[in-house]
Amino acid sequence: MALRNLLTGSLLGAFTLAGSVNGLLADEVPTTSDAGVPYFPSETLQLTDQALASLDKNQSKYFDFGTSDNSTLVTRSQLGCKSLPGDFFWPAEFVWSLFDFVLGGALIKTVPLAASCYPSWSEYDANECDFVTKNWTNSNLHAADSASVMWPLFEGRSCLPNVNGTGECTLGGYSSYAVNVSNVAQIQLAVNFARISNLRLVVKNTGHDFNGKSTGAGALGIWTHNMKELDYIPNYSSSSYSGPAVKMGAGVQASEIYAMANKFGFTAVGGEGKTVGVAGGYFLGGGHSPMSSIYGLAADQVLAMEVVLANGRFVTVTEQSDPDLFWALRGGGGGTFGIVTSVISRVHPKVGVTLSKFSFATGPTVSVDAFFEGVRSYMTRFPAHADAGTYAYFWVLPTGADKFTFLMNPFFAVNHTVDQFNALVKPWFDDLKALGIEISADSKYYDNFYGAWDAGFPLEVVGSTTLLTGSRLFPRANFENETLFNTTFDTLRSTLTSGHALLAFNMKAELPAGYPSDAANPAFRNALMHAITSTSWDATATDAEILTKMEEFNNDVLGPWRKTCPESGAYMSEALILEPNFQQAFYGSNYDRLYQLKQRYDPYGLFYAPTGVGSENWQVKSVDGLPDQNGRLCPV
Ligand SMILES: Cc1cc2nc3c(=O)[nH]c(=O)nc-3n(C[C@H](O)[C@H](O)[C@H](O)COP(=O)(O)OP(=O)(O)OC[C@H]3O[C@@H](n4cnc5c(N)ncnc54)[C@H](O)[C@@H]3O)c2cc1C
Ligand SMILES: *[C@@H]1O[C@H](CO)[C@@H](O)[C@H](O)[C@H]1NC(C)=O
Ligand SMILES: *[C@@H]1O[C@H](CO)[C@@H](O)[C@H](O)[C@H]1NC(C)=O
Ligand SMILES: *[C@@H]1O[C@H](CO)[C@@H](O)[C@H](O)[C@H]1NC(C)=O
Ligand SMILES: *[C@@H]1O[C@H](CO)[C@@H](O)[C@H](O)[C@H]1NC(C)=O
Ligand SMILES: *[C@@H]1O[C@H](CO)[C@@H](O)[C@H](O)[C@H]1NC(C)=O
Ligand SMILES: *[C@@H]1O[C@H](CO)[C@@H](O)[C@H](O)[C@H]1NC(C)=O
Ligand SMILES: *[C@@H]1O[C@H](CO)[C@@H](O)[C@H](O)[C@H]1NC(C)=O
Ligand SMILES: *[C@@H]1O[C@H](CO)[C@@H](O)[C@H](O)[C@H]1NC(C)=O
Ligand SMILES: *[C@@H]1O[C@H](CO)[C@@H](O)[C@H](O)[C@H]1NC(C)=O
Repeated sequence: MALRNLLTGSLLGAFTLAGSVNGLLADEVPTTSDAGVPYFPSETLQLTDQALASLDKNQSKYFDFGTSDNSTLVTRSQLGCKSLPGDFFWPAEFVWSLFDFVLGGALIKTVPLAASCYPSWSEYDANECDFVTKNWTNSNLHAADSASVMWPLFEGRSCLPNVNGTGECTLGGYSSYAVNVSNVAQIQLAVNFARISNLRLVVKNTGHDFNGKSTGAGALGIWTHNMKELDYIPNYSSSSYSGPAVKMGAGVQASEIYAMANKFGFTAVGGEGKTVGVAGGYFLGGGHSPMSSIYGLAADQVLAMEVVLANGRFVTVTEQSDPDLFWALRGGGGGTFGIVTSVISRVHPKVGVTLSKFSFATGPTVSVDAFFEGVRSYMTRFPAHADAGTYAYFWVLPTGADKFTFLMNPFFAVNHTVDQFNALVKPWFDDLKALGIEISADSKYYDNFYGAWDAGFPLEVVGSTTLLTGSRLFPRANFENETLFNTTFDTLRSTLTSGHALLAFNMKAELPAGYPSDAANPAFRNALMHAITSTSWDATATDAEILTKMEEFNNDVLGPWRKTCPESGAYMSEALILEPNFQQAFYGSNYDRLYQLKQRYDPYGLFYAPTGVGSENWQVKSVDGLPDQNGRLCPV
């Protein structure tokens, strides 16, 4: 067949290098996109048919655009498993060199971040190892690496720091190569190269994803972290919107957009986490924000996107130009339909915020029952608090036998002065007082979002290999219907009593009136709590023991949560990879349409992300039997 000829044909002869991204392979194109604003400089460098024609055929065959002609289309099932290094079909060294050349030298051969800790690697270096070990839990360290991810569990724990030279360091579930992209042409070349060579492709931005979506054994990674362009558009105009907006490159992170908002006096809908990739996996998966109770999800804000499709073509996606993709990309999940190079999002007027932190715990004067009455009183206020536009991140922690602590971490009262905040929480605080629970709230008013957010949310701690999280979106009815509320509360109390922490957000995320609909999980729209819990195991646990822990957590801890709201779901970006019936849980009634669009836009099966749309057609044969990405990816 055609593919075989392509890969085994006489490409062993010498090739003359006709051009690279910095030269002939990319064309300069018109500077204004159909989105109505200028392309970023990185977007004016595009791979075009003319540019490809400047290569000779023996070279251009690695980078041709995908066909939409059904008679010659090689589909997912015809291609079989994706290649791994060492396979007959794995591109030869000189092909990788050719690829690197046309990319303008942007190809990085993966060296695991902690390789410096292992004498078996030439990168072995005690000082470097010490640095990586000490900084392993710092999210910036992983974001700045072309292949590392923040949850090594899903990459296969293949090269951990601080092992004192013992153990092994392998590539495991890390991508084999990554392209450090700084322009659109490089993304197009990588997409075409991976599709034609039948490589697994992963998009890695910061590597925050909780389900291993940004890593994969033998993959070619597209590392978008350095696409940092950022523009404020004071008066953007689209079919459904006229007003201030921002255009963000795919690598822009939460702290960067908030800093710009602070400078220009607007409010952006981004996440609470400081280093999350706002214009990447965050908005693609929906994206909840301290502003969500007022403005909805991050995906809802998006007005236009620039995207590289699975066939390698670069397109502008607006409500007008492509209503289907416009709908699917906003909330339908990262790494699935295409690679977004930039987004244009609406932004909102500057607003004041009261930030409040407080805590209470069981102790000599607070019995376990009184403690839980205090928590219960809080949960009855969820509808009122979310309807007032606020967002609260709170933890309830089991701290020993019959010992519990509640931490408000923080209460983010948007558009509330301290007095207004105090009035809002007064009914709850009165109950606490009546229960004998003393609290002293540290509440402070900020006249803008940035100050409150910066003070309220510390840098994320990541990198654990002994922790697994899962979550649920609890609907309004679970707090408004007393029978259902009692069941819900009792369920959460027994989760805590059995030793599992509750890390939850009281918020809402309705689609604001007049906003075009999108593919975000419908379960978000009537949720009043996004709750996360976790399990953990000893560092010495075997793979089999870890798997048992994961399954128990799934069934015995999250199972009862699901029973309180079987029609609801979970937020894909902060969920359990083993979530049963993930199609319903993460996508709800949108799934069928999303699946059809996946077939239309990616008939090649180029994009795969665990629990992504269409992922049920694939299987990762992990080498340790755990749900991680360290094995071969094959069609089922
Ligand atoms: C500490 C922490 C705090 C968090 N806080 C929040 C929060 O406040 N609100 C919230 O909603 N979520 C939050 N999240 C979850 C976060 O939204 C997801 O982890 C999200 O996937 C991160 O996107 P990323 O691009 O930064 O990460 P990555 O792991 O790099 O990418 C995630 C997924 O998106 C895909 N992707 C990335 N960029 C692109 C692109 N340009 N085009 C196509 N696909 C792409 C990747 O292939 C992958 O599938 C948090 C996560 C962590 C670990
Ligand atoms: C391309 O490959 C063909 C077939 O092997 C060979 O005859 C030809 O010389 C090659 N062309 C170039 C420019 O290398
Ligand atoms: C190609 O196949 C797809 C899916 O089977 C179909 O929707 C599409 O109309 C076909 N296109 C052409 C040009 O035949
Ligand atoms: C990173 O490691 C260095 C020592 O190698 C240490 O001084 C520094 O505090 C670490 N930073 C963080 C954020 O852990
Ligand atoms: C490595 O050595 C350090 C310092 O001696 C020690 O604290 C640490 O526990 C060791 N780690 C492992 C995994 O053995
Ligand atoms: C990635 O590319 C950027 C330019 O966009 C460059 O500044 C950076 O050093 C590169 N990083 C690596 C690890 O190669
Ligand atoms: C924004 O643009 C619209 C349409 O172009 C125009 O009607 C409106 O007056 C502009 N608003 C401001 C504040 O410039
Ligand atoms: C803040 O509250 C006032 C009323 O108190 C309201 O008029 C205004 O629209 C609110 N602002 C936001 C951003 O919700
Ligand atoms: C809910 O629980 C409370 C407290 O235990 C109890 O007073 C109330 O009667 C219960 N309501 C229903 C409808 O079961
Ligand atoms: C409240 O929930 C219970 C249990 O799910 C259900 O039987 C009942 O119909 C609900 N009541 C209302 C008013 O919706």
